[in-house]
Amino acid sequence: MKTTFNKLYHGADYNPEQWKDYPGVIDEDMRLMKLSKCNVMSINIFGWTEIEPAEGVYDFTFLDYVMDKLAENDVKAILATPSGARPAWMSKAHPEVLRTNADRTVNLHGERHNHCLTSPYYRKKVYEINRRLAERYKDHPALLMWHLSNEYGGECHCEMCRAKFVEWLKKKYNNDLDDLNAKYWTKFWSHTYTDWDQIEPPSPLGETAVHALNLDWKRFTTEQVMDFIENEVAPLREFTPDTPVTANFMEILQDYDYYKLRNVVDVISWDNYPRWHSGNDVAMAQYAAFQHDNFRSFKSQPFFLMESTPSLVNWHEYNRMKRPGMNILSSLQAVAHGSDSVQYFQWRKSRGSSEKMHGAVVDHCGHENTRVFKEVAKLGDILENLSEVAGTNSTSDVAVIFEWENRWALNDMQGLIRDDKKYNETCVAHYAPFWQRGVNVDVIDSLSDWSKYKLVVAPMLYMVKTGIPEKIAEYVENGGNVVFTYASGWVDENDLCYLGGFPAGKLKDVFGIWAEEVDVLYPDQNNAVEMTDGKSYKAIDYCEILHANEADVLATFKDDFYAGSPAVTVNNYGKGKAYYIAFRDCGDFLDEFYGDIVDELGLTREIGDMPYGVTAHTRESDTDIYTFVQNYTTEPCDVTLSNVYTDVLSGETVSGQTTLPKYGVKVLKRSKEI
Ligand code: GLA
Ligand code: ZN
Repeated sequence: MKTTFNKLYHGADYNPEQWKDYPGVIDEDMRLMKLSKCNVMSINIFGWTEIEPAEGVYDFTFLDYVMDKLAENDVKAILATPSGARPAWMSKAHPEVLRTNADRTVNLHGERHNHCLTSPYYRKKVYEINRRLAERYKDHPALLMWHLSNEYGGECHCEMCRAKFVEWLKKKYNNDLDDLNAKYWTKFWSHTYTDWDQIEPPSPLGETAVHALNLDWKRFTTEQVMDFIENEVAPLREFTPDTPVTANFMEILQDYDYYKLRNVVDVISWDNYPRWHSGNDVAMAQYAAFQHDNFRSFKSQPFFLMESTPSLVNWHEYNRMKRPGMNILSSLQAVAHGSDSVQYFQWRKSRGSSEKMHGAVVDHCGHENTRVFKEVAKLGDILENLSEVAGTNSTSDVAVIFEWENRWALNDMQGLIRDDKKYNETCVAHYAPFWQRGVNVDVIDSLSDWSKYKLVVAPMLYMVKTGIPEKIAEYVENGGNVVFTYASGWVDENDLCYLGGFPAGKLKDVFGIWAEEVDVLYPDQNNAVEMTDGKSYKAIDYCEILHANEADVLATFKDDFYAGSPAVTVNNYGKGKAYYIAFRDCGDFLDEFYGDIVDELGLTREIGDMPYGVTAHTRESDTDIYTFVQNYTTEPCDVTLSNVYTDVLSGETVSGQTTLPKYGVKVLKRSKEI
């Protein structure tokens, strides 16, 4: 099956069923799609009632019409299975499909994304509607890809789901309840289970203190949605074995482990809604870039930007519009990091209901003479001119570890700064210095292959799974370089603390340290860290008290009873180096620390130092390198090039100094031979 494409796609979520009774609108949509160079639409996402108006009564007349219209106009369809929102008749006749909340209340019908994922009836209906869609449209020229449901999320706590969970646990623990009790440490508070049937999913009304249970519940809900997805996909595979499936992921959603979900789709796609212009756009760009890199790394292949807004959303606290130029910049950011599409929510604003004020390509005025439409159309031209980039990939010397199970366990842990461990922010803080230097980064999990990276950065890797200390030792021995921080290597995959000192097992040898205690600082407290060259930095939130055994000390704490104890260490281990950072900084330390490492390891970057807020990321074909240089500041910025390039958009040859206007992007191409 082909999971990469030979052009870049530009489009939106399209809900023509909302306009069925408005003559002329759909034809006008087709005209406007051409005008804005939109060549793909995600359709039928919320179309279930349209195609199955009553139980077992199917009517595809309108969907046929829409698919044909798209095909006639050279617009491809990412055709959705409609399981994201179910018809009202279904909830009424079969209330088992309603989701039960963690407090065991059952939802009424309404909203969306709120089904029981276990319900046999719901699964049967989803299978059947998908089968009919696949059979009907398998040879349709508009069909490009399947869009599974919409933004899978959440969990159900009904009795059917509970029973499934218990079944899942029995399998996981080989029917050995003693083993489960030991792993869950249930003698604590006398929580020992003496029968499988006593086990309830975590609930605010019941158990939340058994952290390994919480973890298993998250793992179960991840596998349950994967199982649900497999049921969705089965009929699609039967009729359309060559049509890829995708599911639009949501940012770095907590609910499910996307490292597992990535395996049940063919193409990764995600919905990206940064809060542009809410403060620091450079920081916002770094946060978005980190996620793009994570989604690309899931399959090491191009992904789709399934949703974004051309202007504003309606669900931020402050729904600020993108300033002129930002839509083009933020869309090309996605392409720079590996997206082969730029798609919006939504094509046309709804006339009623909750999303009527959400940004769209076509506003209520209905015509093309809007700022937003014109910017979208301009981007359409740009994407068409960049089509040679489609299918190209990125290579990186650096990986940052960002792991769902670690995040679940760390956030659940009672300790440190209890309610805000800042795991996501810490990973992005360790990513930012590379972004600023135009160094490509992959974002991976600890189980992935590390051997292709020169440097692996693992911030706050609190949970170190069995085998990982040995894997890290081997990686560093063979010449890899690794960075760890405070609060790392404390628990195993069952959330049981490692005995014998932190970080776990062999990691003490790899890093040449023992981490004895962590000092947690209140928001107005700080410490200072002094490097051996005399430079000093502010330490906030966490100061870990280390003993340097074999490691060299690069910096020490200046204040408090642990003044003089190591704050940054490095250990030469085999052919590589293992760095340990024992404090949280305000960004300035990490910037300089990683700056030195980038130089020392000679990490690949296409362009040297760039002004603050300007970055560069590359994609490669077999023959060429495409460098996307982007300016997230509101001032023109100069960048110095050390190669000769073709500016893909203007066709001009550029070298030496080049200027990027405010929010400017250049795509520079050079042959790999040179
Ligand atoms: C999500 C959904 C869309 C829409 C947008 C609004 O991403 O998938 O249906 O509600 O949010 O931003
Ligand atoms: Zn359920």
